[in-house]
Amino acid sequence: MNGTTNGQGPAVELAGVVKRFGDRSGTEVTAVDHIDLTVMDGEFFSLLGPSGCGKTTTLRMVAGLELPTAGSIRIHGEEMGLRPPNKRPVNTVFQSYALFPHMTVAANVGFGLEMRKVPASERKDLIDWAIDLVEMGSMAHRKPTQLSGGQQQRVALARALVNRPEVLLLDEPLGALDLKLRQQMQFELKNLQREVGITFVYVTHDQEEAVTMSDRIGVMHEGRLLQVDTPEAIYERPTTRFVADFIGQTNFLEATVASGEEVVLANGDRLRLSSDQPSGSSVAVTVRPERLTVHRRGEAPMDRHCVEGRVETVTYLGNAVVYGIGVDWMHLEVRCPATLAGDRRDVGDDVTVSFEPDHAAVVTG
Ligand SMILES: Nc1ncnc2c1ncn2[C@@H]1O[C@H](COP(=O)(O)OP(=O)(O)O)[C@@H](O)[C@H]1O
Ligand SMILES: [Mg+2]
Repeated sequence: MNGTTNGQGPAVELAGVVKRFGDRSGTEVTAVDHIDLTVMDGEFFSLLGPSGCGKTTTLRMVAGLELPTAGSIRIHGEEMGLRPPNKRPVNTVFQSYALFPHMTVAANVGFGLEMRKVPASERKDLIDWAIDLVEMGSMAHRKPTQLSGGQQQRVALARALVNRPEVLLLDEPLGALDLKLRQQMQFELKNLQREVGITFVYVTHDQEEAVTMSDRIGVMHEGRLLQVDTPEAIYERPTTRFVADFIGQTNFLEATVASGEEVVLANGDRLRLSSDQPSGSSVAVTVRPERLTVHRRGEAPMDRHCVEGRVETVTYLGNAVVYGIGVDWMHLEVRCPATLAGDRRDVGDDVTVSFEPDHAAVVTG
């Protein structure tokens, strides 16, 4: 296989990819429903979505472990068609490490090279390189049973990287690790990806993991790809209610599109916000809790959009205070940096909640 690829072209292209599974009763499940996606060379790309949304199936089709019902998959411009997994320039790392228990770390990492009949002299350098990359140099002679879960996953990673795949596919590789180790590995994995420059397609249901590591994220729901964007754009400018809700906490204000540039909230207030939906469509305006500010009634600055309400709950979190605000037509959650108790609003206070129109997004669905 052909080592690292640092060009700027597409690495993986999916066009109109569909995967249906039939069962014995004749009913069909559409696991992947017309996905179009381009992952660029050298990118750390994550497919993110809840369990059952089709992430693994998508990855397995790229790997050649499943064939699409319809559509095409290209890797570096080449149509994969019916090409078997071992003839594709990819390697996969799964959640379960499946290391050979009787072999040392070095032998596990070198196994694929041996199968491919890479000469022993070249093998050694490649194995050393891959084991060093995952910082397992001091444990090259251990057996998998003498390693922790995190160390075993590093070996699994080295075993995939040693082949210098053009694209590395990772299916929830950190899923079996505890939170602290998982967070450490997220950081290391991102650094390692930058260092080797190999395109990563990473599958996870963990939004924090995807946001931390990825250059771009594709959010999936029920077999469809809802939005593909940078982590920041996904968080700040979601286009659907599902994406807004799946990535972090948020508020939804029911609204109707008045024109391309304006929406009307349920209370009749007009907001200048653009939307690609036709006039009269039901939409929601979403604003993150930390983008809302609570003021004493009537004290909000003029240039912000304001909604009047009453404090229903105050939750002190140490570094933040979360207010639950009842507005006659809805409920809002507001997250503020913790202020001194004297500056805090109390339950029952009449308040004005404000936000900058720039911090709101119109979502559908
Ligand atoms: N081999 C299979 N046979 C039948 N249904 C399958 C098969 N593999 C996956 N599915 C179904 O396809 C859908 C997507 O599954 P999957 O891709 O594993 O989702 P995810 O990885 O996002 O959790 C689910 O409804 C799942 O039950
Ligand atoms: Mg899965």
